[in-house]
Amino acid sequence: MTPEELFYRVFESMPRQGPGCTGATRKAFSYLPDLPRNARVLDIGCGSGAQTWDLAALTTGTITATDNHQKFLDAITTRAEKDGLQDRIRTACASMDSLPFGPGQFDLIWSEGAIFIMGFEQGLTAWKPLVKKGGYLVVSDAAWFEPDPPEELVRWWEKEGYIPLTEQEKAEQVRNTGLDLLAMYRLPEAGWWENYYVPMLERVTEFRKEYGKDPALSPVLDSFQNEAEMYRKYRRYYGYTFFIMRAP
Ligand SMILES: C[S@@+](CC[C@H](N)C(=O)[O-])C[C@H]1O[C@@H](n2cnc3c(N)ncnc32)[C@H](O)[C@@H]1O
Repeated sequence: MTPEELFYRVFESMPRQGPGCTGATRKAFSYLPDLPRNARVLDIGCGSGAQTWDLAALTTGTITATDNHQKFLDAITTRAEKDGLQDRIRTACASMDSLPFGPGQFDLIWSEGAIFIMGFEQGLTAWKPLVKKGGYLVVSDAAWFEPDPPEELVRWWEKEGYIPLTEQEKAEQVRNTGLDLLAMYRLPEAGWWENYYVPMLERVTEFRKEYGKDPALSPVLDSFQNEAEMYRKYRRYYGYTFFIMRAP
C-alpha cells in the first residue's frame, strides 16, 4: 500500500469526497431562474457522484460527470445502470484543465469542492466557454467568513497549498472573468460533518488499526484527522460558499 493508495481507499469508501449535502445542492440550484428542465449539465470533479444524483433529480436532461480518477467514474456508471439512469448520466475521465468538450455545449456547469485544484479564477475562465450564452456555472469553494483568521489556521491552509479569499474578493474574480454573479450561498455546517468528516474520521479510525504504526502511511491518516480538527476548531472563520453565475 502506497500513501496515494491509502488516500484513495479512504476517499473511495466515503459517500462524498468534499463538503456538501443534498439540501445545499438543491438550494444553490434554486437560484437558477430559467434553466431548461432538460438541461445539458457538466459536473466537474464529480468524485463518486453525490451531487450528480441530486442534479439528476432536479433536471430531466443529461449529466456528464467528469473526474480524473477512473474508479469514481466506474462507481457512477454501475450505480447509474442499477438506477436505470444510464441514458442520462454519462462519465468522462479527463483533467479539469483540458476538458474534451467544444464551446457552448452545456446549459449548466456544476462543480462542488473541486475548482480549487485549478484555482477559482483560472477554473472559471477555462470553463466559461463550455456553457451556452445565458448558461449557468455553479461552483462551491472555500472562502474566509471572518477577517483576521488565526495564525495556526492560515499556516495550515498554506501547507495545503491554497489560501482562501474572502467572498468579496472571489466576487471580484467572477467579475474579472466576465460572468454575472447571481447569488452566493454558504454551505451549512451540517454539510461538512454528515457526509464528509464523520465518515472520514470513522475510516481513519479503522485504517489506524492496520496502518497507524507505518511511518509512510500514518501521515496520510494524520492529515485527514488534522483537516477535520481545523474545521472543528476554526469553522467560524471559513467555509464553503456556492457561487451561482451566469454567462452573458
Ligand atoms: C474534493 S473532491 C469533490 C468531489 C465531489 N464533487 C464532492 O463534492 O463530493 C475533488 C474531486 O476532484 C477530482 N480531481 C482532482 N484533480 C483533478 C483534475 N486535475 N481534473 C479533474 N478532477 C480532478 C478528485 O478526484 C475528486 O473527485
